[in-house]
Amino acid sequence: MDKLFQPYNMGPNTLANRIVMAPLTRRRATLPGLTANELIGKYYRQRASTGLIVAEGSQISPEGYGFTGSPGCYSAAQVAGWKTVTDVVHRAGGKIFLQLWHVGPWSHRLLQPGKKSPLAASEIRPQGEVLTPEGRLPYEYARAMTVEEIHNTVKDFGRAAKNAMEAGFDGVEIHGAHAYLIDQFIMDGTNSRMDDYGGPVENRARFLFEVIAEVLKYVPAGKTGLRLSPRAVKPGMADSHPEKTYGWIVDQLNGLSLAYLHISEIMTPEERLNGTAKSIVPFYRNLYKGVLISCGGHGLESARAMIVAGHADLIAFGKAFISNPDLVARLKTGAPLAEPDKETFYHGGPKGYIDYPTFTC
Ligand SMILES: Cc1cc2nc3c(=O)[nH]c(=O)nc-3n(C[C@H](O)[C@H](O)[C@H](O)COP(=O)(O)O)c2cc1C
Repeated sequence: MDKLFQPYNMGPNTLANRIVMAPLTRRRATLPGLTANELIGKYYRQRASTGLIVAEGSQISPEGYGFTGSPGCYSAAQVAGWKTVTDVVHRAGGKIFLQLWHVGPWSHRLLQPGKKSPLAASEIRPQGEVLTPEGRLPYEYARAMTVEEIHNTVKDFGRAAKNAMEAGFDGVEIHGAHAYLIDQFIMDGTNSRMDDYGGPVENRARFLFEVIAEVLKYVPAGKTGLRLSPRAVKPGMADSHPEKTYGWIVDQLNGLSLAYLHISEIMTPEERLNGTAKSIVPFYRNLYKGVLISCGGHGLESARAMIVAGHADLIAFGKAFISNPDLVARLKTGAPLAEPDKETFYHGGPKGYIDYPTFTC
Protein backbone atom coordinates (compact mmCIF):
# COMPACT_ATOMS: atom_id res chain seq x y z
CA MET A 1 0.00 0.00 0.00
CA ASP A 2 1.52 3.35 -1.03
CA LYS A 3 1.15 5.47 2.10
CA LEU A 4 1.57 8.70 0.12
CA PHE A 5 -1.87 8.27 -1.41
CA GLN A 6 -3.65 7.05 1.70
CA PRO A 7 -5.90 9.33 3.79
CA TYR A 8 -4.27 10.89 6.82
CA ASN A 9 -5.87 12.08 10.06
CA MET A 10 -4.36 15.40 11.00
CA GLY A 11 -6.17 16.28 14.18
CA PRO A 12 -9.73 17.30 13.33
CA ASN A 13 -8.95 17.37 9.60
CA THR A 14 -8.88 14.17 7.56
CA LEU A 15 -6.73 14.63 4.48
CA ALA A 16 -7.40 12.61 1.33
CA ASN A 17 -3.69 11.85 0.95
CA ARG A 18 -0.32 12.86 2.37
CA ILE A 19 0.49 15.36 -0.34
CA VAL A 20 0.44 19.05 0.54
CA MET A 21 0.41 22.03 -1.79
CA ALA A 22 3.06 24.37 -0.37
CA PRO A 23 2.17 28.05 0.05
CA LEU A 24 2.92 29.90 -3.18
CA THR A 25 2.66 33.65 -3.55
CA ARG A 26 1.19 34.34 -6.99
CA ARG A 27 0.16 37.98 -6.61
CA ARG A 28 -3.23 37.77 -8.35
CA ALA A 29 -5.32 39.60 -5.71
CA THR A 30 -7.68 42.36 -6.79
CA LEU A 31 -6.24 45.84 -6.19
CA PRO A 32 -6.59 48.13 -4.34
CA GLY A 33 -8.27 46.07 -1.59
CA LEU A 34 -5.92 43.08 -2.03
CA THR A 35 -8.85 40.68 -1.99
CA ALA A 36 -8.96 37.09 -3.19
CA ASN A 37 -11.20 36.68 -6.24
CA GLU A 38 -12.81 34.22 -8.64
CA LEU A 39 -9.53 33.63 -10.48
CA ILE A 40 -7.78 32.66 -7.25
CA GLY A 41 -10.71 30.38 -6.38
CA LYS A 42 -10.48 28.64 -9.74
CA TYR A 43 -6.72 28.10 -9.29
CA TYR A 44 -7.13 26.46 -5.89
CA ARG A 45 -10.18 24.44 -6.97
CA GLN A 46 -8.09 22.95 -9.80
CA ARG A 47 -5.61 21.73 -7.14
CA ALA A 48 -8.18 20.49 -4.59
CA SER A 49 -7.29 16.80 -4.99
CA THR A 50 -4.22 17.31 -2.84
CA GLY A 51 -4.54 16.27 0.81
CA LEU A 52 -4.02 19.83 2.00
CA ILE A 53 -3.65 23.17 0.25
CA VAL A 54 -1.70 25.75 2.21
CA ALA A 55 -2.87 28.90 0.48
CA GLU A 56 -0.30 31.58 -0.24
CA GLY A 57 1.17 33.91 2.33
CA SER A 58 -1.47 36.50 3.22
CA GLN A 59 -0.49 39.64 5.04
CA ILE A 60 -2.01 39.97 8.48
CA SER A 61 -2.05 43.77 8.37
CA PRO A 62 -1.31 46.63 5.97
CA GLU A 63 2.18 46.82 7.57
CA GLY A 64 2.75 43.16 6.71
CA TYR A 65 2.48 43.85 2.98
CA GLY A 66 5.47 43.90 0.63
CA PHE A 67 4.69 41.86 -2.49
CA THR A 68 2.42 43.84 -4.77
CA GLY A 69 -0.79 41.91 -5.38
CA SER A 70 -0.54 39.45 -2.48
CA PRO A 71 -3.94 39.02 -0.79
CA GLY A 72 -4.53 40.14 2.79
CA CYS A 73 -6.61 38.77 5.63
CA TYR A 74 -7.31 41.81 7.78
CA SER A 75 -10.36 43.51 6.19
CA ALA A 76 -14.00 42.46 5.85
CA ALA A 77 -13.70 42.54 2.05
CA GLN A 78 -10.70 40.23 2.22
CA VAL A 79 -12.63 37.78 4.41
CA ALA A 80 -15.48 37.85 1.88
CA GLY A 81 -13.04 37.26 -0.98
CA TRP A 82 -11.43 34.30 0.77
CA LYS A 83 -14.88 32.86 1.60
CA THR A 84 -15.55 32.42 -2.12
CA VAL A 85 -12.24 30.55 -2.41
CA THR A 86 -12.78 28.20 0.53
CA ASP A 87 -16.32 27.48 -0.71
CA VAL A 88 -15.19 26.26 -4.13
CA VAL A 89 -12.32 24.24 -2.66
CA HIS A 90 -14.65 22.56 -0.16
CA ARG A 91 -17.22 21.84 -2.87
CA ALA A 92 -14.41 20.09 -4.78
CA GLY A 93 -13.65 17.99 -1.67
CA GLY A 94 -10.42 19.77 -0.70
CA LYS A 95 -8.96 21.06 2.55
CA ILE A 96 -7.37 24.48 2.69
CA PHE A 97 -5.33 26.37 5.31
CA LEU A 98 -4.26 30.00 5.00
CA GLN A 99 -0.66 31.06 5.55
CA LEU A 100 -0.45 34.09 7.87
CA TRP A 101 2.37 36.37 6.80
CA HIS A 102 4.12 39.54 7.86
CA VAL A 103 6.96 40.35 5.45
CA GLY A 104 8.83 42.55 7.94
CA PRO A 105 11.63 44.38 6.12
CA TRP A 106 10.77 42.93 2.69
CA SER A 107 8.65 45.95 1.84
CA HIS A 108 9.01 49.61 0.96
CA ARG A 109 7.71 52.91 2.30
CA LEU A 110 5.60 53.26 -0.85
CA LEU A 111 3.75 50.07 0.12
CA GLN A 112 3.32 50.97 3.78
CA PRO A 113 0.51 52.88 5.52
CA GLY A 114 1.50 56.52 5.92
CA LYS A 115 4.62 55.84 3.83
CA LYS A 116 6.47 54.84 6.99
CA SER A 117 9.57 52.64 6.86
CA PRO A 118 8.86 48.90 7.02
CA LEU A 119 9.17 47.05 10.32
CA ALA A 120 11.82 44.59 11.45
CA ALA A 121 13.28 43.15 14.65
CA SER A 122 16.32 45.38 14.19
CA GLU A 123 17.32 47.97 11.64
CA ILE A 124 18.18 46.06 8.49
CA ARG A 125 18.32 46.48 4.73
CA PRO A 126 17.42 43.49 2.58
CA GLN A 127 19.37 42.92 -0.62
CA GLY A 128 17.62 43.30 -3.95
CA GLU A 129 14.68 45.22 -5.34
CA VAL A 130 11.00 45.49 -4.56
CA LEU A 131 8.09 46.27 -6.86
CA THR A 132 6.39 49.52 -5.78
CA PRO A 133 3.71 51.73 -7.36
CA GLU A 134 6.66 53.70 -8.78
CA GLY A 135 8.35 50.66 -10.32
CA ARG A 136 11.16 48.45 -9.07
CA LEU A 137 13.24 50.13 -6.36
CA PRO A 138 16.05 48.92 -4.10
CA TYR A 139 15.00 47.80 -0.64
CA GLU A 140 15.56 50.46 2.01
CA TYR A 141 16.40 50.24 5.68
CA ALA A 142 13.59 48.85 7.79
CA ARG A 143 13.32 50.19 11.32
CA ALA A 144 13.47 48.29 14.61
CA MET A 145 9.99 47.79 16.05
CA THR A 146 9.04 49.40 19.33
CA VAL A 147 7.67 47.08 22.00
CA GLU A 148 4.24 48.61 21.41
CA GLU A 149 4.49 47.78 17.70
CA ILE A 150 5.48 44.22 18.60
CA HIS A 151 2.41 43.87 20.84
CA ASN A 152 0.15 45.33 18.15
CA THR A 153 1.57 42.96 15.54
CA VAL A 154 0.95 39.97 17.78
CA LYS A 155 -2.68 41.12 17.98
CA ASP A 156 -2.76 41.49 14.18
CA PHE A 157 -1.78 37.83 13.81
CA GLY A 158 -4.68 36.89 16.08
CA ARG A 159 -7.16 39.02 14.17
CA ALA A 160 -6.02 37.54 10.85
CA ALA A 161 -6.34 34.02 12.27
CA LYS A 162 -9.88 34.79 13.45
CA ASN A 163 -10.67 36.23 10.03
CA ALA A 164 -9.30 33.15 8.30
CA MET A 165 -11.63 30.90 10.29
CA GLU A 166 -14.56 33.20 9.50
CA ALA A 167 -13.60 32.91 5.84
CA GLY A 168 -14.02 29.14 6.09
CA PHE A 169 -10.41 27.95 6.12
CA ASP A 170 -9.79 24.54 7.69
CA GLY A 171 -6.88 26.00 9.61
CA VAL A 172 -3.98 28.42 9.44
CA GLU A 173 -0.24 28.18 8.99
CA ILE A 174 1.92 30.75 10.78
CA HIS A 175 4.73 31.84 8.47
CA GLY A 176 7.82 31.66 10.66
CA ALA A 177 10.20 30.98 7.79
CA HIS A 178 12.30 32.56 5.05
CA ALA A 179 13.65 35.60 6.92
CA TYR A 180 10.27 37.32 7.12
CA LEU A 181 9.26 39.11 10.30
CA ILE A 182 9.02 36.19 12.73
CA ASP A 183 12.26 34.68 11.42
CA GLN A 184 13.95 38.11 11.69
CA PHE A 185 13.38 37.91 15.43
CA ILE A 186 14.56 34.29 15.67
CA MET A 187 17.91 34.58 13.85
CA ASP A 188 20.77 36.18 15.77
CA GLY A 189 22.11 37.58 12.48
CA THR A 190 19.01 39.78 12.10
CA ASN A 191 18.14 40.48 15.74
CA SER A 192 20.45 42.73 17.73
CA ARG A 193 17.80 43.92 20.20
CA MET A 194 18.81 44.52 23.80
CA ASP A 195 15.33 44.08 25.30
CA ASP A 196 13.13 41.07 26.12
CA TYR A 197 12.92 40.23 22.40
CA GLY A 198 16.68 40.02 21.77
CA GLY A 199 19.71 38.20 23.15
CA PRO A 200 19.36 34.50 24.05
CA VAL A 201 17.13 32.23 21.97
CA GLU A 202 14.46 32.27 24.70
CA ASN A 203 14.11 36.01 24.03
CA ARG A 204 14.49 35.88 20.24
CA ALA A 205 11.73 33.27 20.07
CA ARG A 206 9.44 35.29 22.35
CA PHE A 207 7.70 37.01 19.43
CA LEU A 208 7.01 33.67 17.72
CA PHE A 209 5.55 32.13 20.86
CA GLU A 210 3.44 35.21 21.58
CA VAL A 211 2.09 35.02 18.02
CA ILE A 212 1.29 31.33 18.45
CA ALA A 213 -0.47 31.98 21.78
CA GLU A 214 -2.53 34.78 20.22
CA VAL A 215 -3.52 32.68 17.20
CA LEU A 216 -4.53 29.83 19.52
CA LYS A 217 -7.11 32.14 21.11
CA TYR A 218 -9.06 31.94 17.86
CA VAL A 219 -7.98 28.69 16.18
CA PRO A 220 -7.73 25.27 17.86
CA ALA A 221 -4.14 23.99 18.13
CA GLY A 222 -5.07 21.03 15.91
CA LYS A 223 -5.85 23.47 13.12
CA THR A 224 -2.77 25.66 13.56
CA GLY A 225 0.44 24.83 11.71
CA LEU A 226 3.83 26.53 11.77
CA ARG A 227 6.38 26.89 8.98
CA LEU A 228 10.08 27.23 9.79
CA SER A 229 13.21 27.25 7.62
CA PRO A 230 16.06 26.43 9.98
CA ARG A 231 18.54 26.53 7.12
CA ALA A 232 18.89 30.17 6.02
CA VAL A 233 17.41 31.00 2.65
CA LYS A 234 18.17 34.71 2.20
CA PRO A 235 21.67 36.09 1.61
CA GLY A 236 23.19 37.83 4.62
CA MET A 237 20.40 36.75 6.97
CA ALA A 238 21.21 33.74 9.11
CA ASP A 239 21.55 32.35 12.59
CA SER A 240 25.01 31.47 13.82
CA HIS A 241 23.86 28.22 15.50
CA PRO A 242 20.75 27.09 13.62
CA GLU A 243 20.54 23.59 15.10
CA LYS A 244 20.72 25.00 18.62
CA THR A 245 18.29 27.86 17.93
CA TYR A 246 15.64 26.03 15.93
CA GLY A 247 16.21 22.85 17.94
CA TRP A 248 15.29 24.74 21.11
CA ILE A 249 12.20 26.18 19.40
CA VAL A 250 11.07 22.83 18.04
CA ASP A 251 11.47 21.28 21.45
CA GLN A 252 9.17 23.95 22.94
CA LEU A 253 6.60 23.27 20.22
CA ASN A 254 6.17 19.72 21.50
CA GLY A 255 3.98 20.96 24.32
CA LEU A 256 1.56 22.79 22.03
CA SER A 257 -0.08 19.95 20.01
CA LEU A 258 -0.11 22.02 16.83
CA ALA A 259 -1.56 20.61 13.61
CA TYR A 260 1.93 20.33 12.16
CA LEU A 261 5.44 21.68 11.86
CA HIS A 262 6.31 22.46 8.25
CA ILE A 263 10.05 22.42 7.52
CA SER A 264 11.00 24.31 4.38
CA GLU A 265 14.41 23.80 2.83
CA ILE A 266 15.83 24.71 -0.52
CA MET A 267 16.95 21.55 -2.29
CA THR A 268 16.88 20.40 -5.87
CA PRO A 269 15.24 17.10 -6.84
CA GLU A 270 18.73 15.85 -7.79
CA GLU A 271 20.10 16.66 -4.33
CA ARG A 272 17.18 14.85 -2.72
CA LEU A 273 17.67 11.77 -4.86
CA ASN A 274 21.43 11.36 -4.96
CA GLY A 275 22.02 12.60 -1.43
CA THR A 276 24.55 15.30 -2.40
CA ALA A 277 22.93 17.68 0.08
CA LYS A 278 21.86 16.45 3.48
CA SER A 279 18.26 17.16 4.45
CA ILE A 280 17.80 18.72 7.89
CA VAL A 281 14.41 17.05 8.32
CA PRO A 282 15.66 13.86 10.06
CA PHE A 283 17.35 16.07 12.71
CA TYR A 284 14.06 17.82 13.49
CA ARG A 285 12.12 14.55 13.25
CA ASN A 286 14.16 13.32 16.19
CA LEU A 287 13.13 16.36 18.20
CA TYR A 288 9.53 16.85 17.17
CA LYS A 289 6.77 14.53 18.36
CA GLY A 290 3.92 15.89 16.21
CA VAL A 291 3.02 15.88 12.53
CA LEU A 292 5.98 16.90 10.36
CA ILE A 293 5.80 18.20 6.80
CA SER A 294 8.88 18.21 4.59
CA CYS A 295 9.09 20.63 1.67
CA GLY A 296 11.71 21.44 -0.92
CA GLY A 297 12.83 19.62 -4.04
CA HIS A 298 10.59 16.59 -3.62
CA GLY A 299 9.62 14.19 -6.37
CA LEU A 300 7.70 10.93 -6.10
CA GLU A 301 10.69 8.84 -5.06
CA SER A 302 12.04 11.17 -2.37
CA ALA A 303 8.52 11.73 -1.02
CA ARG A 304 7.93 8.01 -0.68
CA ALA A 305 11.36 7.46 0.86
CA MET A 306 10.79 10.15 3.50
CA ILE A 307 7.44 8.70 4.51
CA VAL A 308 8.64 5.10 4.56
CA ALA A 309 11.68 6.08 6.66
CA GLY A 310 9.33 7.90 9.05
CA HIS A 311 11.23 11.17 8.63
CA ALA A 312 8.10 13.07 7.65
CA ASP A 313 4.35 12.46 7.81
CA LEU A 314 3.32 14.67 4.90
CA ILE A 315 5.23 15.93 1.86
CA ALA A 316 4.72 19.38 0.40
CA PHE A 317 5.36 20.27 -3.22
CA GLY A 318 5.75 23.85 -4.41
CA LYS A 319 6.67 24.55 -8.02
CA ALA A 320 5.28 21.22 -9.24
CA PHE A 321 1.81 22.39 -8.19
CA ILE A 322 2.11 25.52 -10.28
CA SER A 323 2.27 23.59 -13.54
CA ASN A 324 0.48 20.38 -12.56
CA PRO A 325 -2.98 21.05 -11.14
CA ASP A 326 -3.54 17.28 -11.12
CA LEU A 327 -0.21 16.58 -9.41
CA VAL A 328 -1.66 13.88 -7.14
CA ALA A 329 -3.05 11.91 -10.10
CA ARG A 330 0.17 12.34 -12.06
CA LEU A 331 2.30 11.07 -9.18
CA LYS A 332 -0.08 8.17 -8.66
CA THR A 333 -0.07 7.07 -12.30
CA GLY A 334 3.55 7.93 -13.10
CA ALA A 335 2.47 10.52 -15.68
CA PRO A 336 5.17 13.04 -16.64
CA LEU A 337 5.25 16.37 -14.82
CA ALA A 338 4.98 19.66 -16.71
CA GLU A 339 7.60 22.35 -16.03
CA PRO A 340 6.36 25.70 -14.69
CA ASP A 341 6.94 28.96 -16.54
CA LYS A 342 8.89 31.24 -14.19
CA GLU A 343 7.85 34.35 -16.14
CA THR A 344 4.29 33.99 -14.87
CA PHE A 345 5.05 33.02 -11.26
CA TYR A 346 4.16 36.47 -9.94
CA HIS A 347 2.09 38.08 -12.67
CA GLY A 348 0.19 37.28 -15.82
CA GLY A 349 -3.43 37.08 -14.68
CA PRO A 350 -4.89 33.78 -15.86
CA LYS A 351 -1.81 33.00 -17.98
CA GLY A 352 0.53 30.58 -16.23
CA TYR A 353 -2.02 30.38 -13.41
CA ILE A 354 -5.20 28.54 -14.34
CA ASP A 355 -4.28 27.43 -17.87
CA TYR A 356 -1.98 24.48 -17.11
CA PRO A 357 -3.84 21.44 -18.46
CA THR A 358 -4.47 18.20 -16.62
CA PHE A 359 -2.66 15.18 -18.06
CA THR A 360 -4.20 13.28 -20.91
CA CYS A 361 -2.53 10.26 -22.57
C1 LIG B 1 6.41 31.33 -6.91
C2 LIG B 1 6.73 30.94 -5.50
C3 LIG B 1 6.05 31.55 -4.46
C4 LIG B 1 6.29 31.17 -3.12
N1 LIG B 1 5.57 31.74 -2.12
C5 LIG B 1 5.72 31.29 -0.83
C6 LIG B 1 4.87 31.79 0.20
O1 LIG B 1 3.95 32.60 0.01
N2 LIG B 1 5.10 31.31 1.46
C7 LIG B 1 6.10 30.40 1.74
O2 LIG B 1 6.27 30.00 2.90
N3 LIG B 1 6.87 29.90 0.75
C8 LIG B 1 6.69 30.31 -0.52
N4 LIG B 1 7.44 29.75 -1.52
C9 LIG B 1 8.31 28.61 -1.22
C10 LIG B 1 7.53 27.29 -1.47
O3 LIG B 1 6.48 27.13 -0.55
C11 LIG B 1 8.45 26.04 -1.38
O4 LIG B 1 9.01 26.02 -0.10
C12 LIG B 1 9.53 26.07 -2.44
O5 LIG B 1 8.97 26.27 -3.73
C13 LIG B 1 10.34 24.76 -2.44
O6 LIG B 1 9.52 23.66 -2.78
P1 LIG B 1 9.64 23.00 -4.25
O7 LIG B 1 11.10 22.65 -4.45
O8 LIG B 1 8.73 21.80 -4.21
O9 LIG B 1 9.19 24.04 -5.23
C14 LIG B 1 7.26 30.15 -2.85
C15 LIG B 1 7.96 29.57 -3.91
C16 LIG B 1 7.70 29.94 -5.22
C17 LIG B 1 8.44 29.26 -6.33
